[in-house]
Amino acid sequence: MDRLSRRNVLAVGGALGALGALGVATPGWTWAPSGSVAGAGAGADPRWVWDEEADPLVASLIDRGDVPRVNELLRTWTKNGQALPSGLPADLRDFMERARQLPAWTDQRKLALAVEFNNKRGLYLGVLYGLASGMMSTVIPKEARAVYYSQGGADMKDRISKTAKLGYDIGARNAYQPDGEMIVTCVKTRLVHAAVRHLLPQSPYWSAVADEEIPISQRDMMVTWHSLPTTVMQKLTAWKVPIPAAESEAFLHSWQVGAHMLGIRDEYIPASWVEANSQAAQVLTPVLAPTAEGIKLADILLNLGSVIDGGLLTKPILGAFTRFMLGDQIAGWLKIDREPIWDTLLKTAWGPFIAVREGLLPFPLAPAAYWTFDEFLRKAALLFLSEAKPIRIEIPVANRPS
Ligand code: HEM
Repeated sequence: MDRLSRRNVLAVGGALGALGALGVATPGWTWAPSGSVAGAGAGADPRWVWDEEADPLVASLIDRGDVPRVNELLRTWTKNGQALPSGLPADLRDFMERARQLPAWTDQRKLALAVEFNNKRGLYLGVLYGLASGMMSTVIPKEARAVYYSQGGADMKDRISKTAKLGYDIGARNAYQPDGEMIVTCVKTRLVHAAVRHLLPQSPYWSAVADEEIPISQRDMMVTWHSLPTTVMQKLTAWKVPIPAAESEAFLHSWQVGAHMLGIRDEYIPASWVEANSQAAQVLTPVLAPTAEGIKLADILLNLGSVIDGGLLTKPILGAFTRFMLGDQIAGWLKIDREPIWDTLLKTAWGPFIAVREGLLPFPLAPAAYWTFDEFLRKAALLFLSEAKPIRIEIPVANRPS
């Protein structure tokens, strides 16, 4: 589609967006706001909603040339309870003071229980965030392209560790407490996303392939959100990991608060797993597809392990795990080779391994494969979570140069 006709399509999209703003749901979005944490809302398609507070502010910071100074100042702002550094532009400071407030519906009791869940399930979560959510992000076309053509796309190792920081921070003991870092990570990420909305439309490479004028809509944010907690919980359930209902709800809650802190409107954040699954079926599953950019990103991801551990965490094992978690179709899209030994081992031994690990099966002499799995989980969890700790999230001022 040439540039002109794409603009026409976008103009129609804008009109649909205006209808959405009036409360008329656009085609493809029928998820009811009654199922959200807000419990009510206009029902407007989040495809046409971005971040009306952060976007103009960050665009102006970029245009005013303030970003390098702001990034420098924000390096010292790392803990949730810490005062903002002095010297920030007044408009940014005002926004950040508002944006760092937890929503009124935050339930501290649930957040405390989520910490327990994260402790108990840290190993599974590490590998799931990395290989289920992380690899899935490469078959979410809009996300793959946005990531590939933004500044961070040029250095995927750095970019992945920054994204993994969020997975680490949300699972940390003090995630949302004054000595934790999740609020800081979310507010900074909200600023980064606003910068990307301003910058990517200026990239000739992104513009040539994107079928939209502004990236990272609230709908896209929810798609990515579902690739995280919703997918993780679906896998844990499929693997029959026993999770008490209260802990499962608490894990959901920690991600609901995370969504709010990332700037997603409460009317789009599912109130329960039932609602989350139904929204995911509507917005995530149908959009999964391969792109040239996603295939390249997946290849970089699969090669990450060999840098850290040339022995166990090699490309074939990560590939086999990806196939096992996301299925043959997605593995095929990503051009992941079949690994007869590992593919078979995962198919036959993963279920019993989980059962033994969870104490559901009495297995005094568990086969060696189980300990290999356990070791793999540890290494992968470390790779995707713990390694990410000292990373700084900073506002970009440019796109990927080529
Ligand atoms: C940056 C997380 C949704 C595209 C980031 C960063 C984090 C993050 C932690 C900061 C890392 C960095 O600076 O590189 C999330 C979460 C999301 C979400 C938790 C949803 C719940 C999305 C979506 C898109 C997207 C939907 C695109 C469609 C990007 C891009 C960057 C970024 C392009 C900046 C890369 C760069 O230039 O360095 N995101 N993100 N994100 N995100 Fe997201």
